[in-house]
Amino acid sequence: MSSVHFENVSKHFGNVVALADLDLHVESGEFVSLLGPSGSGKSTTLNLLAGLLDADEGAIRIGERVVNHVSPDKRDIAMVFQSYALYPHMTVFENIAFPLKARRSRVPKKEIEERVTAVGEILGVEALLHRYPKELSGGQQQRVALGRAMVRDPKVFLLDEPLSNLDARLRIRMRRDLKALHDRIASTIIYVTHDQAEALSMSTRIAVFDRGRLQQFGTPFEIYNRPANTFVANFVGEREIVFFEATARVDGDSLAIETEAETLPVAGKLPGAQRLTGHRATFGLRAESLRLADETEGTIPAVVSEVEPAGPDIIVFATTAGGLDLSCRVDGGTAIARGSPVRLAIVPDRLLAFDRETGAAIAVHG
Ligand SMILES: Nc1ncnc2c1ncn2[C@@H]1O[C@H](COP(=O)(O)OP(=O)(O)OP(=O)(O)O)[C@@H](O)[C@H]1O
Ligand SMILES: [Mg+2]
Repeated sequence: MSSVHFENVSKHFGNVVALADLDLHVESGEFVSLLGPSGSGKSTTLNLLAGLLDADEGAIRIGERVVNHVSPDKRDIAMVFQSYALYPHMTVFENIAFPLKARRSRVPKKEIEERVTAVGEILGVEALLHRYPKELSGGQQQRVALGRAMVRDPKVFLLDEPLSNLDARLRIRMRRDLKALHDRIASTIIYVTHDQAEALSMSTRIAVFDRGRLQQFGTPFEIYNRPANTFVANFVGEREIVFFEATARVDGDSLAIETEAETLPVAGKLPGAQRLTGHRATFGLRAESLRLADETEGTIPAVVSEVEPAGPDIIVFATTAGGLDLSCRVDGGTAIARGSPVRLAIVPDRLLAFDRETGAAIAVHG
């Protein structure tokens, strides 16, 4: 396994800036997800690393070695794509063994057998080695495709949306499998996805891209709870975030948010509240940034406009006296009806604040 470094790497296609000035340093043994919407530059980044594309500018290193001019087959990486075509006329064993046989590397037959069996065991397909791909479920086929990449023990694994052909339940199961696999083989994995839940659940760190630019590189906790800007805040999270522009009224480490129509108190202390002083701020509230409150002190009156069951939770949509539409995630057992008056409390640790001009986060949490 190896570290991976992008140093001021850019890639254009005609007028399109597919990747702009990327600086990204992946440690050896990390599981890094490249996350972003369609066209944000994720696959371009992966293909540059694989050597399927040439960079216009900048250096790409695998470990100490600059690989810009190293051909793909000499970079010692293994790639698994979204469409993980297995060879239909070969058994699972032969599919996994294929890279060892194809490389003219003259791996002895006995070693091939040992390595395929070991990979089969790690992936839980050891009982299926004699079967053909059409006799496997989608998840099993996916694991065989991974096995074909793993059998070579490469420096880095590159996975481009490898789960997107699977149904929802199986994808979630495969997330755990992939994470467990990473824990066991401890290799460097770079994983492309546009599914934020997938990235949050598996990665040691996540690189979020928008329009060819890296927006933030951080742990799942940082990406979710301390997004660097409004783009990241809105892109991660199951639901859309509510943004609104307002003035901060700061009093020590207490905060009230003044919109044109009303004043919203924040129910608790914010150690970095002072940083809002003098900023024109955009505030962001997710459904989990609010809780239903019993008390009137320090809370916001609102009226329930919609109730949406979401499995174990309920999402309560409510409109404040000043006309702000908010949502609030509550326990699924809560009895609440459209039209009910409620009180909402802003959870300080989950309030997000951004500079109104630049969209950059203001560190209100300390
Ligand atoms: N071979 C190419 N020729 C021209 N433009 C390209 C080429 N490959 C990518 N692009 C453009 O570069 C930008 C980045 O593309 P990229 O494939 O990296 O996006 P992505 O983040 O992987 O998106 P998706 O989630 O849809 O796979 C897009 O605007 C895309 O249209
Ligand atoms: Mg892509």
